[in-house]
Parts: sequence; C-alpha cells; structure tokens
Amino acid sequence: MMDWTDRHCRFFHRQLTRRALLYTEMVVADAVIHGARERLLGFDDAEHPVALQLGGSDPAKLAEAARIGEAFGYDEINLNVGCPSDRVQSGTFGACLMKTPALVAECVGAMKASVTIPVTVKCRIGVDDQDPEPALDALADGVLAAGANALWVHARKAWLEGLSPKENREIPPLDYPRVHRLKARKPDEFIGINGGIQSLAEASAHLSHVDGVMLGRAAYHTPGILTGVDAAFYGEAAAAFDYPALIDAMAGYAARHIERGGRLGHITRHMVGLFHGLPGARRFRQILSTDANKPGAGPQVLKSAFAAIDLAAAEAEAA
Ligand SMILES: Cc1cc2nc3c(=O)[nH]c(=O)nc-3n(C[C@H](O)[C@H](O)[C@H](O)COP(=O)(O)O)c2cc1C
Repeated sequence: MMDWTDRHCRFFHRQLTRRALLYTEMVVADAVIHGARERLLGFDDAEHPVALQLGGSDPAKLAEAARIGEAFGYDEINLNVGCPSDRVQSGTFGACLMKTPALVAECVGAMKASVTIPVTVKCRIGVDDQDPEPALDALADGVLAAGANALWVHARKAWLEGLSPKENREIPPLDYPRVHRLKARKPDEFIGINGGIQSLAEASAHLSHVDGVMLGRAAYHTPGILTGVDAAFYGEAAAAFDYPALIDAMAGYAARHIERGGRLGHITRHMVGLFHGLPGARRFRQILSTDANKPGAGPQVLKSAFAAIDLAAAEAEAA
C-alpha cells in the first residue's frame, strides 16, 4: 500500500507474523528501471517472504523491472491492475487495465518469461460500467492462461472518474460472491480475495471459498491482529505473543536505522495502532505521534511508550 507498506512497516509486520506474505508499495516499472534502486527496492532479509508490486502496462518494461526485482531477492512479483488514482491512470497503470485484458495477459507472459519466481496479479472485479461477470472472467482467463501463479481480487469495482482513490476503496459496493464464483469456475488456480475484511475470523470464513485472503487497512491500523495469523492459518502452535521481545527487536532495528541517518518516526509511525483497544494504548499512540518525531529521538522513546501499556491485559487479549 503506497506510503504505508514501506520497508519499515514490513519489518514491523514480520515481527508479528513469521509466515504471512507481505507486499511492497506499488513501484512503477519505469522507476525500477531508471530510478534509485536501492532506495526504491532495498529491504531487510528478515522481511521474507515479500512480494514486489509493480505498476505499468508495457510488457518489455515490466519484464525488465520484474527481472531486477528478482535479482534484488523478492519472492514474488505482483502486477497492479487495481489502483484507480489519476496519476496512475495517466501512465496507463492500475485499474484502467481491466479494460484491456489481452494487454495484461501479454504483460504477465513477458514477466513470466523473465523470472523464475511466481508472478501474480491484483485486480478489481471491474471498472466503470463494466459488467463484473464477463470483465473479471476475461481478466482472469487471460492472465491465468499467460501463466500467472495467483490472482488476487479486490472485490469491488473502481470508478475511474469522479471518485478519489480513498472513495474507490469505500464507495463501490463489495461483492464477495463474485470472487467466490470466480474460484468455483477456476478450481485449479489460486484465487485470493481482498477488500473490507476486518478480522481473522472473517478471513477464515472466506477460505471456504477461495485460496487466500489479503488484509490491507485492518492489518495496518490494527497490526496486533497479525499476531494470530501463524496459529490460525499456518498450523503453528498458539503461544502468548512476546511483546517485550517485539519492542526490543523494533528498538534494535530503529537504532540501526538512526545510525544510517534515518529517523525514529519513520519506523514508529507504523506502530501507533499496535495496542489498539488496550489499556495504555492512547498514551502509547500519543508518545509515538509526538516524542518519536522530535529531532534526535532514539529507540528509548519506543521503550517509554511501551511502558505505558498494561502488558497483562495485552497478553490476555492475544491469548
Ligand atoms: C494508503 C493505501 C495505499 C494503497 N496502495 C496500494 C498499492 O500500492 N497497490 C495496491 O494493489 N493496492 C493498494 N491499496 C489498496 C489495498 O491494497 C486494498 O486493496 C484495499 O485497501 C482494500 O482492502 P482492505 O479493505 O483490506 O484495506 C492501498 C490502500 C491504501 C489504504
């Protein structure tokens, strides 16, 4: 998610779940090819498994960007066919590609030919006045025939005119049954669902219909829910989450980032929702939103914020 799932966010989320696949922000293929690669693509080894999401519509450029992503060590390349923002539309990226499924299939084919890691696609159920029945089928048929290893579907349309990107994540109605029907039609392919899923219980219910569930805003705003993922979905033993170890890991990571010239706030801005709903959460959020952004703030600020949390309550909640 652009401006949210940067490397610091992903490192943090990786402390909460060892197994869930994490996604980068969308990076446009041209930027990967011509831009400052280490800044755009660099990530910490601890983040694996992590997928690089690309934006673009030129098969040759996407193939080249995918190759660069694979060489950087990403575990998967994902193509964005869902983002409705104006900036992106002007470059023919994102959701407007729902109207040109043959071109998307060509992009996937070119990317598949240039890498050995999985190539996946994230799309909408349709755009504008498209009928989601044929529109999603056409997109899915094309990319899966071209070798896409998974199709993730944000279960609502995008309206390319008149709605902001934020409204396009809220106003077009969710249509989960449309995605479930796609899976029923494609039983042998990996079909994942996304959009409006708030909890692990909701995610679990979708897994009777589809192969995977992608959480966006719920994971970001209430990251504590990720502590239950490995036990709920990956067969790992359920255990009380070790919050002090988490804070130590994040403080160590922050110290390394600050040493390299970074700021504490780059990291802690992703952590404000960690203790959402628990005693002390407000104070934790306040400290991270103020003190952590002051010049010279060090990892100790994170530890002071954590001291505001009633840990027994947090652990009881997680159990
Ligand atoms: C701030 C923000 C940035 C996003 N950036 C991207 C992006 O770069 N690529 C993408 O495929 N989706 C992006 N999305 C959409 C989410 O991936 C997701 O499809 C959408 O929020 C619906 O899922 P959710 O209800 O679980 O959040 C973004 C969403 C938000 C809130």
